[in-house]
Amino acid sequence: MGNLLDRYSGKIMRTAFSAVSVEEPDAGTPIERDENALAVFAVWGDPQISSLSPLRTARLSAACRDIGNTRGTLDSLIILGDVTEFGRECEYEMTAELLNSVSDKFSTFFAVPGNHDVRMRGYHKQLRKFNSFVRSVRNGVTGSDERYWFSRDMNGCKFIMMGTDAATFEGAYLNSRQLAWLDREISDAEKKGQPAFVFNHQTLKNTNGLPLTWLGKGNWRGTVGWQNDKLLGIFERHNNVIFITGHLHYGISRYNYEDCGCFKALSLPTVGVVNHGDFSENSQGYVIFLYEDRIELRARLHGKGIYVDESVPGAKVIIPR
Ligand SMILES: [Fe+2]
Repeated sequence: MGNLLDRYSGKIMRTAFSAVSVEEPDAGTPIERDENALAVFAVWGDPQISSLSPLRTARLSAACRDIGNTRGTLDSLIILGDVTEFGRECEYEMTAELLNSVSDKFSTFFAVPGNHDVRMRGYHKQLRKFNSFVRSVRNGVTGSDERYWFSRDMNGCKFIMMGTDAATFEGAYLNSRQLAWLDREISDAEKKGQPAFVFNHQTLKNTNGLPLTWLGKGNWRGTVGWQNDKLLGIFERHNNVIFITGHLHYGISRYNYEDCGCFKALSLPTVGVVNHGDFSENSQGYVIFLYEDRIELRARLHGKGIYVDESVPGAKVIIPR
């Protein structure tokens, strides 16, 4: 019955999507694969594809078109959670269809779960559904079907994918096994002199403009939640973490990147929903260039096919290594 309902909803989603217009990104100013870079990857927050909103599908579709115009191939595309609004099969299928239309432009695909992907669902069943979605995208990489968290050695760096250990409603629950593993993974990269890109849906308390960027509603809202201080303690034991998160839906601003001393925090705007703040353009994301001597973060308006003008705070960030 559930499958039938999903199939029916999927048809309605496609019909509704065909009736809305999609921005056509400028193909003359594409993302270019810099051959001097060790790795180049695109990061998106919160597509939140919904069976009730064709506009979100259209915004993600525009972003995919921009990826399709890339000169060369990205090493990775990573989605930082809330892939879907309701965690429904039809929503994941729609997302995979759009990503696969341009999957020749990225060598690997990763995603971490957001609260919307897991809330009000049986944990392990939803985990398997989420991993099936990632694997249905060409070159999609997952860990085991036991837990969301896993790592991969990439070109000159380490990717560490986090994910809640329970079906929480808004924050994440990070169990002690995940936290101990995270510490070891960061240490391993640190010993090799590599940056550790740690990907998680929710950010840390009092970083990236919180609580203002969660519209000022309480100190814990918008954050990881109960394990916030333990996670912060792990990052503070190292000096190589770039913590990349979504969840806040806040357009490019001075809040998106924060140098927290021993670690750096990048909070992504949403690629699918409406962005808060002064810079509320659709289909925003970042492109990250890893070099021997620095990491460059460049904010991109995928819907228009251009990088955000460097006069906008947070549009271009250079992190020396
Ligand atoms: Fe979220």
